[in-house]
Amino acid sequence: LLRSDTTALRGTAAVVGDRSHVLDQGDFQAGSLQRTDSGLTASAGALDVDFNSLHAMLDCNLGCGLGSRLGCERGALTAATEVQGARGAPGHCITLQVGDGNNSIVEGRLDMKHLLKLLDLTTEEIEEILNLADQLKYELKHGIEHHHLKGKTLGMIFAKASTRTRVSFETGMYQLGGYPMYLSANDMQIGRGEPIEDTARVLSRYLDGIMIRTFEQKQVEDLAKYGSIPIINALTDFAHPCQVLADLMTIRERKGALEGLKACYIGDGNNMMHSIIVGCLKMGMSISVACPEGYRPDKEVLEFASQYEGFEMTDSPATAAKDADVLFTDVWASMGQEGEAAERRKAFEGYQINAELMKLAKPDAMVQHCLPAHRGEEITADVFEAHADE
Ligand code: NVA
Repeated sequence: LLRSDTTALRGTAAVVGDRSHVLDQGDFQAGSLQRTDSGLTASAGALDVDFNSLHAMLDCNLGCGLGSRLGCERGALTAATEVQGARGAPGHCITLQVGDGNNSIVEGRLDMKHLLKLLDLTTEEIEEILNLADQLKYELKHGIEHHHLKGKTLGMIFAKASTRTRVSFETGMYQLGGYPMYLSANDMQIGRGEPIEDTARVLSRYLDGIMIRTFEQKQVEDLAKYGSIPIINALTDFAHPCQVLADLMTIRERKGALEGLKACYIGDGNNMMHSIIVGCLKMGMSISVACPEGYRPDKEVLEFASQYEGFEMTDSPATAAKDADVLFTDVWASMGQEGEAAERRKAFEGYQINAELMKLAKPDAMVQHCLPAHRGEEITADVFEAHADE
């Protein structure tokens, strides 16, 4: 959530002379806009704007209240001149200007940022999320107050069961000084067929952000399309981005770095497999997935993965697990597939992380499971218990 706030600061920027003539322009992201002789680049140097003052100045609700800094050596923010679209509405952007005393200004746009699926994030954005998460974890452990979301309310819509996601979001919002509002989809009007666009519009007027766990990915995308506040996907049938960001954070914490590691995933080509494939490849890891015919990942994910040499798909768990640093698995029947459980139990026979398979992986390999786990199906009890603290 926090990262989606800070990376809201991205878009195009232009260096303008005499407040009208564009001298140069380029893309920027929070903290990465640099101005050099050759133009706007991502290297050292240049511009320095305090986003706390920007936030105060614009009184904007785009989540720049974290005090992120967009470097500017030359001068302070002089004006936020244009607001396109309604504040917080889709496509809304603000043009800001930084003066240097020589009429030279930088203009930048602030755009809305959501977390709908990892396919939407750049490697740099994922890295920023992991860095910020590490920092917040450090602050929490050391009793350093970090109430970045003071006064903010997060609506948490659940159309499916949840233990870890609900507790982690609710606790996280409390630790960040905000308020988490639990909303059961069955008790809401969407449960009685109210269109998502109406829900999106009205909730955007009360809340500062929405996280949602539901079935169709389209519902989450539509919330973002019709609402005017940041939307976070807390699991759909297609993706589980928050879980995989947390997995990547854990792996990096234990292994020191992600780049160059080999992951494998044994089991169903489901939401978890999708997010793991995308997350690992974007972070420079290789990944080998083993799944039976008929249960392979979505076309969109396979198309993305096919650009990477480090991607392999096989029907052999042993091939996938060979020399792996991290082994992933997930249930054979996900939420909503309860009726297919018996059929799936047959199809996935042998797609299990067990002691034999672990022998093929690196000796210090980690095991990750998003939980709940079905011991004796996708993972044996002994392997699960041996890796339960990871
Ligand atoms: N694939 C599982 C993940 C649970 C966190 C499901 O969707 O039920």
